[in-house]
Amino acid sequence: MPIVGISSGRSGKVTESLVESVLAGAGGDSELVSLSGKLIRPCEACSGCIESSQCVLQDDFQLVIERDRESDELVFGAPTYFAQMNSKGQDFWERLCFSGRHNAAFPLKDKPAVMVAVDIEDGKSEPVLVGLDRYFRAANLRAVSHLAGCGEYACFTMSLLR
Ligand SMILES: Cc1cc2nc3c(=O)[nH]c(=O)nc-3n(C[C@H](O)[C@H](O)[C@H](O)COP(=O)(O)O)c2cc1C
Repeated sequence: MPIVGISSGRSGKVTESLVESVLAGAGGDSELVSLSGKLIRPCEACSGCIESSQCVLQDDFQLVIERDRESDELVFGAPTYFAQMNSKGQDFWERLCFSGRHNAAFPLKDKPAVMVAVDIEDGKSEPVLVGLDRYFRAANLRAVSHLAGCGEYACFTMSLLR
């Protein structure tokens, strides 16, 4: 699978659409994986990954990391929740980065990767991009590009708060 695009936003909404656009623009074989509705627990620091460099918690993370390993390139998109990357995105990266670093295993080492970030305040999504950049470095991915897009209000109260 040459390119895998992952979105930690809502199914069928802004982040996922932007990730899909990047995949379409790249052309060729690709697959979109939505974390929406998937169970991705945070890292428990159980140290079960120290020997094998593979996370031992059994949930949907295992399906997604398998797709990542098979890919040649990655696109990862996340929305801004309370001025940072949403927790589902962070939970995914905590486990990927912590499990992959032991014995310098880095299973995704040197894969080209694109960051996609969404917010509704200024369209720059700076905290999400900074977070993704940190995780990409921790995973030894090669950040090749980024895209920031304007999201949509998830509820009526949010639009009143602006
Ligand atoms: C719990 C929650 C917190 C949010 N916090 C912020 C925020 O701090 N700043 C911001 O610009 N947008 C915030 N948003 C808006 C989302 O970034 C926006 O709805 C975005 O479109 C969500 O991505 P999606 O459409 O891919 O699901 C928040 C949304 C939710 C649900």
